[in-house]
Amino acid sequence: MATELLPDNTRPEKSVNPIFKWLNERLDLVSIWHLAQKKEVPIHKHSIWYYMGGICLMFLIVQIITGILLMVYYVPDLNSAHASILKLNTRIDFGWFVRSLHCWAANLMIFVVFLHLFSTYFMKAYRKPREITWLVGMGLLVLVMGFGFTGYLLPWDQVSLFATKIGLDITAKVPVIGEQLAIVLRGGSVISQNTLSRFFAIHVILLPLLLFGLLAIHLLLIQLQGISTPKSIKVSDVKYEKFFPDFIFKDLLVWILSLNVLFVLVTFLPWGLGEEADLYAPAPIGIKPEWYFLSMFQFLKLIPAYIGPIEGELFGIIIISLIVLALALVPFWDKAESPKLSKLATYFGLIVLISMIVFSVWGALS
Ligand code: HEM
Repeated sequence: MATELLPDNTRPEKSVNPIFKWLNERLDLVSIWHLAQKKEVPIHKHSIWYYMGGICLMFLIVQIITGILLMVYYVPDLNSAHASILKLNTRIDFGWFVRSLHCWAANLMIFVVFLHLFSTYFMKAYRKPREITWLVGMGLLVLVMGFGFTGYLLPWDQVSLFATKIGLDITAKVPVIGEQLAIVLRGGSVISQNTLSRFFAIHVILLPLLLFGLLAIHLLLIQLQGISTPKSIKVSDVKYEKFFPDFIFKDLLVWILSLNVLFVLVTFLPWGLGEEADLYAPAPIGIKPEWYFLSMFQFLKLIPAYIGPIEGELFGIIIISLIVLALALVPFWDKAESPKLSKLATYFGLIVLISMIVFSVWGALS
């Protein structure tokens, strides 16, 4: 359809759609069209992983739309937050549906972000010239986890309150900045209205602004540099397909399939709501954070109270910080020149991935 709109040497000028002509004179749409025509995506036995970034993007769009709708009814006040979610779940038409979409899509998005991270890691897509794309991706991961952490408290139920308490206590243990950071997030030394107000502001204003900024850089770099082909694949085994329309239509198909998974989960397992939080009640037994923090939580739980003169939790946090740092800086220590470092990077990634799965399952079952 778009080709019919395009000015073409063989077509008389009057056949050009006037709206297109008006826009083209201002936005140079023809150049953008030619650029899209030139863009190609590699096809090989690992190309399925190229769809992950797009799925993250699709879930993000779901989050923005459903998040805006939830804000119409949600009240970020200690005495009304739980009641406002209960009202959404029970008395507002399709309220339960929009809320479940938001909660399930958040979890699916974090899951797919991890798939995207590890797939780009093992395909070594972080190597030159994509170091910045990788670093910005790490920033996006932190923001996405931040959305999960701050959003979890907002319904103000018993489990969310105590999981947040644990999260903030762990944050306080981070060397140098931890204590101050926990006080700023909490808005004091104990959880109160300040905490809920701050988490709400961070969730709906600060994190979206940061995310849009980083995502714009991430997507711009991908447009500039194109998609990488793993070095492990022989040049003769790689074919190319046009980004538009071939890849984009497959991308849309994958989006529709992912939306189907989301709708099945929302319909058959609508998101629940626990008892209203009570700041003075004792912590429920066996309280755990959300699954995406579970591997770190379980790892910290297993460390003895003291390792030599160092407090066990502090020791664990230092180890986790070093692992995250090594992951973030991988483009600078695995540059393809040394086969030994390249192998080391692959094994390091494998150990991190397997440990995350093992500790998460262990945490969930214990
Ligand atoms: C909100 C989260 C994110 C979104 C929406 C997103 C989106 C995308 C999209 C659409 C692509 C192009 C297609 C593809 O290769 O999948 C891409 C590529 C890439 N992303 Fe992400 N991404 C996100 C998070 C991350 C994270 C956490 C990392 C890793 C730390 C990362 C690293 C990369 C890299 C290295 C590429 C280049 C892949 C290549 O050229 O082969 N991204 N991203």
